[in-house]
Order: sequence, then C-alpha cells, then structure tokens
Amino acid sequence: MNMHDDRDRLRLAVQKSGRLADETFDLLNRCGLKVRQSRSDLYARVEELEIDVLQVRDDDIPELVACGAADVGIVGGNVFEEWRLSATAPALVPDVLEALGFARCRLCIALPKGRALATPTALSGLRIATSYPALTRRYLDVNGASGATLVSMNGAHEIAPRLGLADAICDIVSTGGTLEANGLFVAGEVYKSEALLIGRPLGAGAPASALEGLRTRIRAVTRSRNAKYVMMNAPRPAIAAIASILPGADAPTVIDLAGQPDTVAIHVVCEEGVLWHHLEELKGIGARAILVLDIDKMLA
Ligand code: PRP
Ligand code: ZN
Repeated sequence: MNMHDDRDRLRLAVQKSGRLADETFDLLNRCGLKVRQSRSDLYARVEELEIDVLQVRDDDIPELVACGAADVGIVGGNVFEEWRLSATAPALVPDVLEALGFARCRLCIALPKGRALATPTALSGLRIATSYPALTRRYLDVNGASGATLVSMNGAHEIAPRLGLADAICDIVSTGGTLEANGLFVAGEVYKSEALLIGRPLGAGAPASALEGLRTRIRAVTRSRNAKYVMMNAPRPAIAAIASILPGADAPTVIDLAGQPDTVAIHVVCEEGVLWHHLEELKGIGARAILVLDIDKMLA
C-alpha cells in the first residue's frame, strides 16, 4: 500500500506496544475510533473519522511528526522533550495540542540508599546512567553539576549502580517500585511527564477537520476522566454545604421528594474526582443513599 496516496486523511502516529500504547488505544476507543492494536499491522484505517493510525516506536514519534510523515502523534512528554532538546535543526518542532492526563510519570535522579546528596551540585563528579542525556544534561547544568559524566544505557538503568557501571541513574519513575526493589531513592526531579497530543500546523482541508473532530472527542473523554455523577438524598437546608464539599461541582439539580417536604434529592456533576472523605463529609451533614457514577463522555 502506498501511504502517500491518502493525503486527504489525517495521519496519527501512536506507540505500537508498551506502557503508553495500552492507554493510547483505550483513549482512541473511548473516542469512538476502533483501532486494532497490533504488533504486525503498522498501519490501520479508522472508519469513524478520516484518520489513519501508524503504529510505531514511541521514540520515533516526534521525528515522524516533525518531518511530516505523520500529522499528529500521541507521545510521552519525556520522549518529546528529550527529542526537542537533542534534535539538530529539526524541519519543524511540533506543537503540543493537548495534554492527555495519562501515562503520568517523573524523570528522576536516583542514588543508592545510604549515599547522601547534600545539594544537586554534589552530582558533579558522579557517573549517571540514563537514556535521557539531553534532559539530564539540562538539569545538571541548571544545578551547577556540569562536571557529571553521563553513561548511556537503553534500559535496566536501576541495576547500573550495583554493577559499578554508574554512581547514580536518571530514569522514569512511575510507582517507584523498580527503585525500591533496587535499593535506590529519588534525589532530584528532572521532568514531570504525561502523554501529549503533538502536531504540525495543518491548513484547511480534510486532515484539518479530522483533527478538529479528534480533538473535540479527546477533550470530551479527558474531561470526563475524573468526573463523577453524584446523587443523594439530603435535608433541604444542607444544599449549599453539599455543593461546597464536592470538588469542581456545577450547580446542583434539586428534586422534591413526594411526601417528604424536608428532604430533597440532589444530583451533581463533579469534574475533579470524588474521594472517600468527601462522602464521609456528606454523610456527616445528613446526606443518605449517596451514589457515585462514572461519566463516559462530557461534551461542552
Ligand atoms: C520503566 C522505567 C523504570 C520503570 C519505572 O521501565 O524506565 O525502569 O519503568 O516504573 P515504576 O516506578 O512503576 O517501577 P520499563 O519497564 O519501561 O523498562 P526499561 O526502562 O528497561 O525499558
Ligand atoms: Zn527503566
């Protein structure tokens, strides 16, 4: 198949497999785009919108967008920022179109437990194993530790100090489990990351309107990610207090209950996530029969 015949369709690059991929395909599915995740079919046509999906290595996504092989891509901020800092004269630096709120992680300097670090400047003179040389170098320079040596590794950085390959590492921390298992602790935060939709400027035409459609759907799904629909019965005088307890709540809908003049049913959409302590507080001011429901999509 010659992909260049299809210039009327938006080309979206995504990671083909890995941590980012699962959540990316989940997002696309929730956007109504049925794409089969596959290690072998690297090119998939979406029927719902004028979009073709390229399934590639995530490290390649910024460059594919920069050179125009793809129009947009979904990539970790860590990978995009590392590419941006290290790309030599890129054809074009893609824009960040949407922050997607998933694949959150931190790029951190970590040291073996028991090895104290008075200030980041003390990293000078150490050997640091990383696959993020540009981000690490920027952090070291900003913190007056330019004397540190970078040791290039593509994975399993956490084992480098034990093998004597390096004194410290600079790697992705998500749950912190890998650091813990290898007797390391976080000594500095280099970059806070989440998945991003990046893209190149598009003129008018079919790819631009497909992108507009995709962004509208992504925003609807992203907005609803933490949103909950909360229903309860409560004493009428507690309405204002209830609205102030629930985070990111819009104006509550208040419904009379037949034969119970002092009690009302209250329905609220909360955009910022509802935690157990919120429910305890609601209960404390007299709310009963509290239901918390997921919201699938929120449009405008
Ligand atoms: C990533 C990252 C860390 C680990 C962090 O590695 O490079 O090693 O996950 O996750 P945690 O904080 O939840 O333990 P990955 O599994 O992608 O393998 P690699 O770095 O060896 O490629
Ligand atoms: Zn790793």
